[in-house]
Amino acid sequence: MTSGRVTVFDTTLRDGEQSPGCSMNQQEKLRLAHQLDRLGVDVIEAGFPIASDGDFESVKAIASVVRRPIIAGLARACRPDIERAWEALRYAERPRIHVFLATSDIHLKYKLRITREECVAQAGEAIRFAKSLCEDVEFSPEDATRTEPEFLCRVLQAVVEEGATTLNIPDTVGYTVPAEFGELITTIRQRVKGIEKVTISAHCHNDLGMAVANALAAVASGARQVECTINGIGERAGNASLEEIVMAMRVRPDQYPFETGIVGEQIFAASQMLSEITGVPVQPNKAIIGRNAFAHEAGIHQDGVLKNPLTYEIMTPQSVGVPDSKLVLGKHSGRHALSIRCEQLGYQFDRRGLDDIYRRFVRLADKIKHVEDHHLLELIRDTHKPSGSATPLIEPIVPAKAAVVNAPPPAPEPEPEPVKAFPVGPHTNAFGVPLPVHSDSHHEQTQQEDYLWGV
Ligand code: KIV
Ligand code: ZN
Repeated sequence: MTSGRVTVFDTTLRDGEQSPGCSMNQQEKLRLAHQLDRLGVDVIEAGFPIASDGDFESVKAIASVVRRPIIAGLARACRPDIERAWEALRYAERPRIHVFLATSDIHLKYKLRITREECVAQAGEAIRFAKSLCEDVEFSPEDATRTEPEFLCRVLQAVVEEGATTLNIPDTVGYTVPAEFGELITTIRQRVKGIEKVTISAHCHNDLGMAVANALAAVASGARQVECTINGIGERAGNASLEEIVMAMRVRPDQYPFETGIVGEQIFAASQMLSEITGVPVQPNKAIIGRNAFAHEAGIHQDGVLKNPLTYEIMTPQSVGVPDSKLVLGKHSGRHALSIRCEQLGYQFDRRGLDDIYRRFVRLADKIKHVEDHHLLELIRDTHKPSGSATPLIEPIVPAKAAVVNAPPPAPEPEPEPVKAFPVGPHTNAFGVPLPVHSDSHHEQTQQEDYLWGV
């Protein structure tokens, strides 16, 4: 029995992209947006359209092709921002304009240089204008957790009256703690009239390492949207991590009896894809998706896990899409195992695409015993450049940022690598059974590939 559905608002492409070293180009953002769609997020915050032409084009491209989730674009509480956001979002199936304005005295005085009265008026006007363009409008009082609660409620009241549909409460500087944040959500629910018609959202930063705990406290107090990022990336110490929030609810429904639309098995692929695109590795001990999250080193632990995984595992690796470690990739591995591992890492290829990877994989496996995920990711990156002949079923793959930045001038194209000799003659299948003779060599090749698919 659950207490309701929590909307997962992913801001990896906006707040996440603001973290040092995590900027992405349009093609990379599109790839990730498709993976976020597969992951089942409800809202993708695709960017901040007024920030740059690149951001604008990315939001527009995502809004045009990713049709299931709501696509949000950020705007300051002023006309040019809101107009620009709408221009980028208008092609979305389900657009959302996300307007923010700081409300804490420290921000009003030093950053915005406006009075509280002006702040209330500006927030109200911005929402009225955004509503004239788009039905779905979210408002964020930036630095809400350092805003006097009474004033915060006044601003929220003004935007609810103008038709805001989501009130997002940001802990912009990662300052709050769970009990306090939970209380703040309760206060808002008690004091803002008409609050029952809107969704309350939590947006927590991790400066004190409490972003996930704070977001969960908000949900326990009545918030029904969480804003989060893959791998917890984001400004400074990052945002609340999507995978941690979702899995806390799955593993502890006794404490957090809420549902989300997240497809757990896609979590690892999303994490890997983000890390591969940005070149920013995931810390090994990162909860849920770190390399060590399911590794057992101590003898006593290994013994326990072998007898029954429940002794030391509170969730299965499979439930978050972590590849089955029993599936070791080496020179004896076939295409089937290779394609499964590629899918687990977020890549689906057609046969020809897989062929290219497989040839190089076999050569590598000949040299090193075990082909680890990072080897495979490198191989995929190298093999399927956007202009390559292979056609991945998902968007083309481009080299990770770090590799591009440090790359030497382009080397001449290497000689094509020799293809591993499969045990197949020109007119026999993988088992030596003669194939029907065809004059069309392309047809012949396709047939061979069909047989090889199961190898
Ligand atoms: O942290 C923050 O306050 C934000 C807002 C723009 C929602 O990212
Ligand atoms: Zn933020």
